[in-house]
Amino acid sequence: MDKTLEKPQQITFDITDRCQMKCVTCSKWKTVSADVINKELTTDEWKSVLDKLHNWLGEGFWFCFSGGEPFLRQDIFELSEYAHSLGIKIASMTNGFSISNLYEKIIDSHIESLNFSLNAINNPLVHDISRGREGSYQKTVSAIFELLKLKKEKNSYLGINIATIMLPENLDEIVPLVEFVTKNKINGIMFQLMDDKESFHGYCVQKGCNTSSYKMPQELRNSYKKMSKKAVEIIDRLIEMKRAGHSIYNSYEQLDAMKVFFNNPDDILNDIICDVGSTNFAVDPYGDVRLCFNMEPVGNIKEDLPENIWVNANSIKCRQMTKSCKMYCRMLNCNFKQNFANFNKSFIVKCKNKLINILKGR
Ligand SMILES: C[S@@+](CC[C@H](N)C(=O)[O-])C[C@H]1O[C@@H](n2cnc3c(N)ncnc32)[C@H](O)[C@@H]1O
Ligand code: SF4
Ligand code: SF4
Repeated sequence: MDKTLEKPQQITFDITDRCQMKCVTCSKWKTVSADVINKELTTDEWKSVLDKLHNWLGEGFWFCFSGGEPFLRQDIFELSEYAHSLGIKIASMTNGFSISNLYEKIIDSHIESLNFSLNAINNPLVHDISRGREGSYQKTVSAIFELLKLKKEKNSYLGINIATIMLPENLDEIVPLVEFVTKNKINGIMFQLMDDKESFHGYCVQKGCNTSSYKMPQELRNSYKKMSKKAVEIIDRLIEMKRAGHSIYNSYEQLDAMKVFFNNPDDILNDIICDVGSTNFAVDPYGDVRLCFNMEPVGNIKEDLPENIWVNANSIKCRQMTKSCKMYCRMLNCNFKQNFANFNKSFIVKCKNKLINILKGR
């Protein structure tokens, strides 16, 4: 057994694959069958998952509800209460589309951090098109304002955050989004690199694509190339804004890595070995556990204890496969090594050197 292996630091519960949006970047909505609801873990089964994780990890660890749209599960508040009673800390993602009758419940719940996905602030159409549903900007932004208001009235400690994908269509929105966050005393914003839409959460369809022979689709490569110069300039601006005190959650190292990536995505494959195998533990709506969301499950939490799954033969194999992986999702916020304690410092040096060369070549 690997004696250096620590316990996971990034725990995700995808409590449902169902979603009411049709985001152009995501494959979830294309792949969910009509009867999926009948296959999801029940409330009691999720409580048992919480018990098992609590027995293994103790109190105080964080997990994040995601999906699909987690607020489509009626029992999200019951599960939050239960997790809180065990001393577990809860975050959640949301598209903010269908929560207008849930504001009071959210504020009164023990969810400590709520992350709204929002891809534009000045131009509603940019957000709506990216999310594939007219009116989604208006609903998400109203939800943010209503919760900010209620949070103040009720003196709540709920952290409200924004998560934004950097797309070719929304680059002009990036700086205004940071200004919006600061002006409205939103806790912070994190920027996400756009991943390949066919493989992003593709495990629903693909049951593990071949990660060691993955080739970035030419269309996606062209998109990155097209946005590269402007994206690098905007990331420089984000670095300045972060230094000036705006609450941008991406680390300086990740922002630097994003610049290297936009300049040449393949540099990232050479410089970062993905570490999800020793940091991530994601439970899907049916109880299957993955360390990497593009690889086969390493076990099912209904059938086994998480501590056994973490060290079983499938997990060992998965960790080996991450070493030869040719995919780029190591750059996503939940996978990027720098977010975890064991960040490889030599990468920072390599990254800085690459940036110096890029600047020299300009
Ligand atoms: C899969 S969603 C699940 C939670 C919820 N449905 C939502 O949209 O917030 C989690 C995050 O992934 C982001 N996302 C969607 N497609 C992506 C892609 N191709 N690359 C990177 N992030 C993506 C979404 O914008 C969202 O912030
Ligand atoms: S990104 Fe979120 S909101 Fe959009 S389709 Fe995927 S799961 Fe649904
Ligand atoms: S880069 Fe990391 S998260 Fe993405 S497929 Fe490879 S091992 Fe999995």
